[in-house]
Amino acid sequence: MRCLPAVNAIKKTLKFFKFELIVKIIVSFADFVIDTEVVRKGKLMRRNIVHEGSGQLKYEIREIVAVADELHKLGREIIWENIGDPLAKGEPMPTWIKDIIGELVKEDKTYGYVATQGVLEAREFIAKEVNARGGCQIASDDILFFNGLGDAVAKVYGFLRREARVLGPSPAYSTHSSAEAAHSGYEHLTYELDANNNWLPDLEDIENKIKYNDSIAGLILINPDNPTGAVYPKEILEEIVDICRRYGVFIICDEIYANIVYKENGQHAYLSEVIGDDVAGLALRGISKEYPWPGGRCGWVEVYNKDKYPQFKTYFNTLLSSKMVEVCSTSLPQYSIPKVMGDPRYAVHLKERAAMFGRRAKEAWETLSKVPGITVNKPEGAFYMSILFDEGVLNSKQKLDIDNEEIKRYIEAKVHGVADDKRFVYYLLAAYGICVVPMTGFCCAKKGFRVTLLECNDEKRLYTWDTIAKAITDYLGSV
Ligand SMILES: Cc1ncc(COP(=O)(O)O)c(C=O)c1O
Repeated sequence: MRCLPAVNAIKKTLKFFKFELIVKIIVSFADFVIDTEVVRKGKLMRRNIVHEGSGQLKYEIREIVAVADELHKLGREIIWENIGDPLAKGEPMPTWIKDIIGELVKEDKTYGYVATQGVLEAREFIAKEVNARGGCQIASDDILFFNGLGDAVAKVYGFLRREARVLGPSPAYSTHSSAEAAHSGYEHLTYELDANNNWLPDLEDIENKIKYNDSIAGLILINPDNPTGAVYPKEILEEIVDICRRYGVFIICDEIYANIVYKENGQHAYLSEVIGDDVAGLALRGISKEYPWPGGRCGWVEVYNKDKYPQFKTYFNTLLSSKMVEVCSTSLPQYSIPKVMGDPRYAVHLKERAAMFGRRAKEAWETLSKVPGITVNKPEGAFYMSILFDEGVLNSKQKLDIDNEEIKRYIEAKVHGVADDKRFVYYLLAAYGICVVPMTGFCCAKKGFRVTLLECNDEKRLYTWDTIAKAITDYLGSV
């Protein structure tokens, strides 16, 4: 019986596996009983339905509103400095624009569906405007309308291949950074905007990030920028285009503030003027900030050089198909575009508005740049200003005096464990009702906050700058 040891070994193994099998059956049964019980109690669904990117959708601009609303209930009047809605801050829609829209509303066609890509006259008008700049030439089919740029942004990232990442600025405008992060399921990848260099993009950082991370397929620029108010010189844009050209990276340039530029020396350049004929690009524009008509939910994407890259063309066609599935975007604002933008009063309107924001930028900067402990760059476009706390000036013990005990209790319970700039923002809100957005809410490790230049009531606006200046000094000096 030379084979007896082998037979015994097989018997033992079988016994062991049998044992293993029995254990597995018991465990599976127990899991089944527990799972069924949990499902029955509503704690676990049959399948995990949560998208990998769900945790990445952050929008501090609106999240701070919940805290402000609570404080309002406790009696604090709120000065809303968090959101970029000019109408909410008292800017009237020009009467002549309202008249044009009023006439359109009388036409039945403005209540119907329109072509998936958008109203043809509007696309032709925009294509002509782009082509008149003399750079990249487009046709009406290179334009696709969306229900506001927010809708465009969600789809631009949402229909990218998941592994294809898009590098964006830090500080970032949350709609872009959140949508990109949600599409990939990972944290948004960023390059630095340099507060010590007028918030211009750090080109070396851009090139290194692109060079050493081959998942980066695209780059985002916001010009003029939200939240910094920077307007990039043409040469910087050309250098960025050059980097993208060398690495085969496409560019997304958000130009929603393109007609709000009040830069003193040098002008703003559009992506279409610098992209040349061999870099794939998307320019994002809309009417929310310029008519201004944010509630119209109307924005569009212009595509550059799509025929040069088959994959880019397919990607753009996917955006188009996704809109087709949805049918089309809201028609009324689209019909208004050639009429409003083609009216000679529009250029005057834009010029006057830009000058108005220029004056407000100067006024805010003059007050706040005198305050020790912070860095402030004078905005050159858009209607925001970012204030950065100098390295090391913040700590988690600083406070502002709050005159109302209930408000004090509420906010002191809220500030535990929050980022140091958010702590300041909460105290500013509780003490003075001024609602700004912390810089760490803009995908940024640096500490600071963003204000808007939108308040139309001069007295209230000046009060806001003076109060913020005093609050910073008091807060930094409190411990
Ligand atoms: C840079 C930027 N892009 C896009 C948007 C979204 O604009 P819309 O109102 O067209 O969705 C905003 C809104 O504040 C913005 O600041």
